[in-house]
Amino acid sequence: MPSDIALLARTAPLYDRVKRVIPAIEWPVFADDVDAILELKRRRNAVILAHNYQTPEIFHCVADVVGDSLALARKAMEVDADIIVLAGVHFMAETAKLLNPDKTVLIPDRAAGCSLAESIRPEDVRLLRQTHPGVPIVTYVNTSAAVKAESDICCTSGNARAIVEGLGVSRVIMLPDEYLARNIAAETDVEIIAWKGHCEVHERFSPREVRQLREDHPGIIILAHPECPPDVVAEADFSGSTAVMSDYVAVNKPPRVVLLTECSMSDNVAVEHPDVEFVRPCNLCPHMKRITLANIRQSLETNSHVVTIDPAVAVRARQAVERMLAL
Ligand code: 13P
Ligand code: SF4
Repeated sequence: MPSDIALLARTAPLYDRVKRVIPAIEWPVFADDVDAILELKRRRNAVILAHNYQTPEIFHCVADVVGDSLALARKAMEVDADIIVLAGVHFMAETAKLLNPDKTVLIPDRAAGCSLAESIRPEDVRLLRQTHPGVPIVTYVNTSAAVKAESDICCTSGNARAIVEGLGVSRVIMLPDEYLARNIAAETDVEIIAWKGHCEVHERFSPREVRQLREDHPGIIILAHPECPPDVVAEADFSGSTAVMSDYVAVNKPPRVVLLTECSMSDNVAVEHPDVEFVRPCNLCPHMKRITLANIRQSLETNSHVVTIDPAVAVRARQAVERMLAL
């Protein structure tokens, strides 16, 4: 049909960006939503913030800002738009709302959660504070606003060590990710009291898998996200946040690499680096994968789902996030 031909012609430059990771036969399925989303963004003065784990058609074709949790939080403060659509999980949308109380923040699927955020409640944090009086509480951004509100300062995987050391104390509580806490503890003299939360995606990687990768792919460079268990990080060549892993590939251009993290990350980085071979044992995050082009389009069409935070909680949670951004 002529209209289909016009649509495919209009979206051809966008397909060009992702042609290495999306087969041509699949593009017509995405083209209509991509085209509609770009028009909706213009009409509604909206921007899309997308995490590195979003699928390539979201990440490379409709997002205005992409990055790790730290970059998304920073960029959320600079956004000049009436509406922010957060293509990521709920805690990220809450962080964007904390930093933009006067803007409308939308999340396309309210059920896009996180096993780390689910692992701890505000009353757990209050109990930790009672048990360790005077010890500052550093809270990973992968938590609810209510948990952030009970904390002294937030951190992300990109700045956790700097935050822990920047407090100038000998002991901190770091929650809720036990593995991130132990991985940071291995790099610093600050004593870290951890919680028992785990990321359901990264906890599945094992040291045996890493050794097997080295055997099967001689010369491979192995990058691990710090939410991986410490024995996995110890076997890897390098560990860092999703943005840091992406920068590592850009700077070092390893001929063959594996990213021990969520699957879409390799697709998104591969798009930029045709000369690098990406080996793919990876794990899917079922929460990140709840966000699709179809529900991003729907969220802009129907103004759903609006992220709201109890103002009394928001005041204290914002302080914890702002302290992190100021350090
Ligand atoms: P990054 O901050 O490294 O992007 O990590 C966020 C996350 O949820 C990883 O699982
Ligand atoms: Fe949460 Fe893990 Fe998914 Fe990241 S990958 S959103 S930490 S469950």
